[in-house]
Amino acid sequence: MKIIQIILLTFMIGVISGQDYVGTHKCKMCHKKDKTGNQFKIWSKSRHANAFETLKTDEAIKIAKEKGLGNPWEEESCVKCHVTGLGKGGFEIKDAKFWTQTKDNGKPTKAVKRMENLKGIGCEVCHGPGSKYKSKKKMVAINKGTMDGSKLGLIEPTEKLCIQCHNEESPSYKSFNFEAFYLKIAHPIATH
Ligand code: HEC
Ligand code: HEC
Ligand code: HEC
Ligand code: HEC
Repeated sequence: MKIIQIILLTFMIGVISGQDYVGTHKCKMCHKKDKTGNQFKIWSKSRHANAFETLKTDEAIKIAKEKGLGNPWEEESCVKCHVTGLGKGGFEIKDAKFWTQTKDNGKPTKAVKRMENLKGIGCEVCHGPGSKYKSKKKMVAINKGTMDGSKLGLIEPTEKLCIQCHNEESPSYKSFNFEAFYLKIAHPIATH
C-alpha cells in the first residue's frame, strides 16, 4: 500500500468508528482539579500547549524562509508536528476569514472554538481522539480496569508516539531521551 492509501484508510476507520477529535477544552472540564492532579494545568504550562503559536515567531518564519516555504503556520510540512490530528480529522489549516467567524452574540462559533482547541500538542495527540471515551462513566470504568479504553480510541502513549515528532525531520532537533523528556511533561493522577 502506498503511504497516502494508508493515511486515507486510517482516517476512514476513525470516521466510521466515530472516534473524533474533540479538542483540549473538553478534557479540561474534568481534568482541572488539583485534588486529582490537574493534568490540564500541567499541560498548559508545557511547551506542547503553545506549539502552534511557536510557528508565528520570527525564528519559525526564518526557518521556513530558508526552506523556501511561506508562512509556517499555513505550511503543512510545519503544522503537522505542531497541532493535534492534522490530516486525521483533527486540526485543519484555515484562512484568516475562518478564524474570525462569530455567532450572533459575537463569540467564536463552535467550529472555531474546536479548532482553537486543536492547536498545539493537545491531550488527544497522545491519548487518542476523545469522542468515544470522554464520558465520565467510561473514564472511571477505564481507570478502574473494568472497560478496555483501547476499543474506544484511548491510546497508551509510549516512546514510539513521541518520536513521530521528536526526530531529525524537526528543523530544531537536537536529541530526544524518553525518560528525561517524559519527566518534563509528567501529569499523573494524584491519589490521596
Ligand atoms: C466527564 C469528565 C471527563 C472528561 C470530559 C474527560 N475525562 Fe479523562 N478521566 C475522567 C475521570 C473521572 C478519570 C479517572 C481518574 C480520575 O479520577 O482523575 C479519567 C481518567 C483519564 C485517563 C486515565 C485512564 C487510565 O487508563 O487510567 C486518561 C488518560 C484521560 N482521562 C484522558 C482524558 C482526555 C485526553 C480527555 C479529553 C479527550 C478526557 N480524559 C476527558 C474524567 C473525564
Ligand atoms: C505531534 C507532535 C509531537 C508529539 C507526538 C510529541 N511532541 Fe513533544 N514537542 C513537540 C513540539 C512541536 C515541541 C516544541 C513546542 C514549542 O516549543 O512550541 C515539543 C516539545 C517537547 C518538550 C519540551 C522540550 C524542551 O526542550 O523543553 C518535551 C519535554 C516534550 N516535547 C516531550 C514529549 C514526550 C515525552 C512525548 C511523548 C510522550 C512528546 N513530546 C510527543 C511535538 C510533539
Ligand atoms: C505529549 C504527550 C501527552 C500529552 C500532550 C498529554 N498526555 Fe497525558 N499522559 C502522557 C503519558 C506518556 C502518560 C503516562 C502514561 C502511562 O502512565 O501509561 C500520561 C498520563 C496521563 C494520565 C494519567 C494516567 C494514569 O494512568 O496515571 C491522565 C489522566 C492524562 N495523561 C490526561 C491528560 C490530559 C487531560 C491531557 C491534556 C490536558 C494530557 N494528558 C496531555 C502523554 C501525554
Ligand atoms: C517532525 C516534526 C516537526 C516538523 C516537521 C517541524 N517541527 Fe518544529 N518542532 C518539533 C519539535 C519536536 C520541536 C521541539 C524541539 C525539538 O526537539 O526538535 C520543535 C520546535 C520548533 C521551534 C522552537 C525551536 C526551539 O529552539 O525550541 C520552532 C521555531 C519550530 N519548531 C519551527 C518549525 C518550522 C518553521 C517548521 C517547518 C519548516 C517545523 N518546525 C517543522 C517538531 C517538528
